[in-house]
Amino acid sequence: MAKPAVSYCLLSCIFALLLVSFPSPDKDDQDKQVYIVYMGALPARVDYMPMSHHTSILQDVIGESSIKDRLVRNYKRSFNGFAARLTESERAILANMDEVVSVFPSKKLKPQTTTSWNFMGLKEGKRTKRNSLIESDTIIGVIDSGIYPESDSFSGKGFGPPPKKWKGVCEGGENFTCNNKLIGARYYTPELVGFPASAMDNTGHGSHCASTAAGNAVKHVSFYGLGNGTARGGVPAARIAVYKVCDVGVNRCTAEGILAAFDDAIADKVDLITISIGADEVGPFEVDTLAIGAFHAMAEGILTVASAGNNGPERSTVVSIAPWIFTVAASNTNRAFVTKVFLGNGKTIVGRSVNSFDLNGRKYPLVYGKSASSSCDAAAARFCSPGCLDSKRVKGKIVLCDSPQNPEEAQAMGAVASIVSSRSEDVTSIFSFPVSLLSEDDYNIVLSYMNSTKNPKAAVLRSETIFNQRAPVVASYSSRGPNPIIHDILKPDITAPGSEILAAYSPYAPPSVSDTRHVKYAVLSGTSMSCPHVAGVAAYLKTFHPRWSPSMIQSAIMTTAWPMNASTSPFNELAEFSYGAGHVDPIAVIHPGLVYEANKSDHIAFLCGLNYTGKKLRLISGDSSSCTKEQTKSLPRNLNYPSMTAQVSAAKPLKVTFRRTVTNVGRPNATYKAKVVGSKLKVKVIPDVLSFWSLYEKKSFTVTVSGAVPKAKKLVSAQLIWSDGVHFVRSPIVVYAKN
Ligand SMILES: *[C@@H]1O[C@H](CO)[C@@H](O)[C@H](O)[C@H]1NC(C)=O
Ligand SMILES: *[C@@H]1O[C@H](CO)[C@@H](O)[C@H](O)[C@H]1NC(C)=O
Ligand SMILES: *[C@@H]1O[C@H](CO)[C@@H](O)[C@H](O)[C@H]1NC(C)=O
Ligand SMILES: *[C@@H]1O[C@H](CO)[C@@H](O)[C@H](O)[C@H]1NC(C)=O
Ligand SMILES: *[C@@H]1O[C@H](CO)[C@@H](O)[C@H](O)[C@H]1NC(C)=O
Ligand SMILES: *[C@@H]1O[C@H](CO)[C@@H](O)[C@H](O)[C@H]1NC(C)=O
Ligand SMILES: *[C@@H]1O[C@H](CO)[C@@H](O)[C@H](O)[C@H]1NC(C)=O
Repeated sequence: MAKPAVSYCLLSCIFALLLVSFPSPDKDDQDKQVYIVYMGALPARVDYMPMSHHTSILQDVIGESSIKDRLVRNYKRSFNGFAARLTESERAILANMDEVVSVFPSKKLKPQTTTSWNFMGLKEGKRTKRNSLIESDTIIGVIDSGIYPESDSFSGKGFGPPPKKWKGVCEGGENFTCNNKLIGARYYTPELVGFPASAMDNTGHGSHCASTAAGNAVKHVSFYGLGNGTARGGVPAARIAVYKVCDVGVNRCTAEGILAAFDDAIADKVDLITISIGADEVGPFEVDTLAIGAFHAMAEGILTVASAGNNGPERSTVVSIAPWIFTVAASNTNRAFVTKVFLGNGKTIVGRSVNSFDLNGRKYPLVYGKSASSSCDAAAARFCSPGCLDSKRVKGKIVLCDSPQNPEEAQAMGAVASIVSSRSEDVTSIFSFPVSLLSEDDYNIVLSYMNSTKNPKAAVLRSETIFNQRAPVVASYSSRGPNPIIHDILKPDITAPGSEILAAYSPYAPPSVSDTRHVKYAVLSGTSMSCPHVAGVAAYLKTFHPRWSPSMIQSAIMTTAWPMNASTSPFNELAEFSYGAGHVDPIAVIHPGLVYEANKSDHIAFLCGLNYTGKKLRLISGDSSSCTKEQTKSLPRNLNYPSMTAQVSAAKPLKVTFRRTVTNVGRPNATYKAKVVGSKLKVKVIPDVLSFWSLYEKKSFTVTVSGAVPKAKKLVSAQLIWSDGVHFVRSPIVVYAKN
């Protein structure tokens, strides 16, 4: 697992999406573990009482009347189920019960400016068209690490009372106050030493995400002067409801908490859910907390936007894989933070980091970590591994380390600064003392300079921001497709700014590991940061089309995305598997022309095609739906999704057909013509002209792709564009071979 991008992101995101690890059993509870017992939708019967049902099931299974120490949580407002401490044999009994869809361990998950909105074209003030009244009736549900309620980004000044539809509460714990901007808060995290149980954000992650989606516009915001500008969310007039499921420490977001947050957020009547949390390991839908929660949200007309994960650039690392979740990759913007290094020989090297420390250009002696240790061998010392550096040899100097992972070691041993080698120099982060990350080539220049002179010296400068022409490019850390479970659904769906985002933070959290500073705004990187950008765009779009369903919103955002160019980006060889439909365009989304709709029944048919049948299906759907013969035969690739993907056999000639239906949301009378661009494949669209006479009229077509089978691990893609001369409705078509 020595993937540089991952270890890097551990530093840069603090709460990067990480490995799943199962909880260690409680000390006095060695043989028991927290399991989620998922029972599908709530039965429609008026006399159904979920809590007493849960209690009686649990009493039966454990053979005791007292369930006090066993029941962890009830799911009862938006879907049905509970979380409980169970032994393996109790788990097995529950899993076989008629009323139970699945029983699975409550995994631990990890959470994965302000020019970013300008970069995307959503400008400040009058230059952007807004529906202010509807925007202020929009509620964004943020499932994350809580929020810092005193931030200017969440001030209630100028806001009227909460929208009438709001059914939530402010139960943020002691000393936690909501206002007319931050209208709701709940927490599902336990008390920790030094941190009373509350919705307060102790990590900064939740405040960052919330402010990116819907924070107020706050002027003169910076990280110690760096990136100075206005911080704002995509929908500054919208309200925020916070559901805290993560806290400080490693692996502190629980699956049982996340499911409870969905249960409440849906019933509280949020308009949209943003969740920058994920596991590393994906399983089938019935054991995937996000997929379960988001399915019930979709059924209630609520779109869930989730982060793709930070496990790139390797393929098949994407973690939000259900088609009813909108999955977001991360890319850069045209602003980059650079940290220059001046060498004693007059050479200047441009490194990366967000370095607010000013050493006034003074040069200090250079020392290589590899030769600054008496306790470690060279293999460990060169990385400045913890416990390796000798204080005597590094004190007052600038230490070179072959890895960006341990800058704290050099700082703790008295170094003034550190110059480190990084293989993912496409993203920077904040450090607790002056650090510059260099590419391997630049790092070697410093090493050979050290070799060339007896008293090597260098200066590490305070960061500057530069205009980066190479944007947008998908970040190395961003998780890639293909979809590891549903091979014929393209994931991620879209990319958005995620690298070096300046947004609200919590002064209760240090801005970097072992930092002693406290800030209200900080720079973070990750798909955690790109997800709320798309949530902001979705909310913005919804203010223009309040009745649009989650699939219509997702379709509008995907089909109007900026095309990305794989050949111009270093980490983009996986092309659509990196960025899906492309880069979100908040302006174009309002007028998509046509949309690909998929409602709950379409998703049920999709599940039928995946062999979810009979009782299991009925429990999930909450109605009497059963699969028709036709549905059982329905192919996942024929779900009416805005992208078209097929995994094909490497043994046979390629020939694959997709069926799609578009709904007219543009001009009532319009004629759209199909065009296919960017492919060596043969693509036939039938019919290739669609005429509409009214709004919301639907027209169906098929797309047949044929040609040479792509090489192993490669994909071939094309773009289908429907256009009436005004709208350009673009869908990626992706075909790849089974390994
Ligand atoms: C709440 O605020 C009061 C007054 O500042 C303080 O004494 C108390 O410790 C706080 N409680 C918590 C749980 O932080
Ligand atoms: C940010 O910019 C504004 C105006 O351009 C200035 O007044 C303010 O002092 C700056 N803040 C910092 C911390 O540099
Ligand atoms: C520096 O010198 C050492 C020993 O003389 C040599 O092994 C190493 O390759 C040199 N490094 C560079 C970057 O020139
Ligand atoms: C992508 O970039 C390459 C190299 O700059 C260029 O040749 C090609 O035309 C571009 N493709 C598109 C679709 O813009
Ligand atoms: C869902 O969409 C299908 C077409 O895909 C349509 O036949 C059906 O009536 C829709 N169901 C609802 C509840 O709108
Ligand atoms: C569904 O089950 C059928 C028959 O058992 C099998 O042929 C098919 O591959 C299964 N489909 C999926 C998506 O698992
Ligand atoms: C749409 O076309 C029909 C039939 O040609 C015509 O009667 C109607 O006026 C047109 N409507 C608009 C809005 O152009």
